[in-house]
Amino acid sequence: MAAARIRLGVNIDHVATVRNARGGAHPDPVRAAREALAAGADGITAHLREDRRHITDADIAALSDLCAEAGRPLNLEMAVTEEMLAVALRHRPHAACLVPERREEVTTEGGLAVAGHEARIAPVVKALDAAGVRVSLFIEPSLAQVDAARAVGAQVVEFHTGRYCHLSGDDRLIEFERLQAAATRAVELGLEVHAGHGLDYVTAADMLAIPEVRELNIGHFLIGEAVFVGLATAIARMRAAMDAAA
Ligand code: PXP
Repeated sequence: MAAARIRLGVNIDHVATVRNARGGAHPDPVRAAREALAAGADGITAHLREDRRHITDADIAALSDLCAEAGRPLNLEMAVTEEMLAVALRHRPHAACLVPERREEVTTEGGLAVAGHEARIAPVVKALDAAGVRVSLFIEPSLAQVDAARAVGAQVVEFHTGRYCHLSGDDRLIEFERLQAAATRAVELGLEVHAGHGLDYVTAADMLAIPEVRELNIGHFLIGEAVFVGLATAIARMRAAMDAAA
């Protein structure tokens, strides 16, 4: 049996970052999402941050419409707050990925601490699940976090790969083993495994050496590459790198 194709979710937040630098409408992240889907992205990922530094509420509404029309999944990254839960329940995206959020951070710096915070996270997972939204938890590749993700009722875990991408040599190999062990545990517990953060053509291919990984979510590198080669080519190259590694 042929192995299932590993899905590529394209995160278009940084198109909005550039747009917001001038306060106008260009470049439009919804246009980027449309082009990404046409170029082979399996879904669109967008993070509506509490401070609205890139993606706005209007973007989420327009991205929901686009993904519904295209029949492709929208993955809404969101903090575990009442406000974001209300947004998610209004739009009912295909998936919601719960992430930690600190206003002063440049990007999502670590995984969500699920272990020890089950009482706060479980009701949000439950409410999303009841609305038909598939819930993913963005966590560090640790067995304790995987077990806690299962305990709060998530269907998916997305492992934070930022650490892996920053390390080199033996340290990188050790982090790879941590990712592999966490992925093995997640599948044993019935969770689907995704990975993301900091991935480029090489590290995305590395992640596919973990057979449990079903989806990668990639943003910053692809939007940066798009400056040089265009978004469609950057996505096609990523797709080719992933297909060659799978
Ligand atoms: N997955 C999650 C949960 C994220 O928060 C981010 C960053 O917004 C990504 C994937 C994509 O990371 P990057 O932009 O570094 O590719």
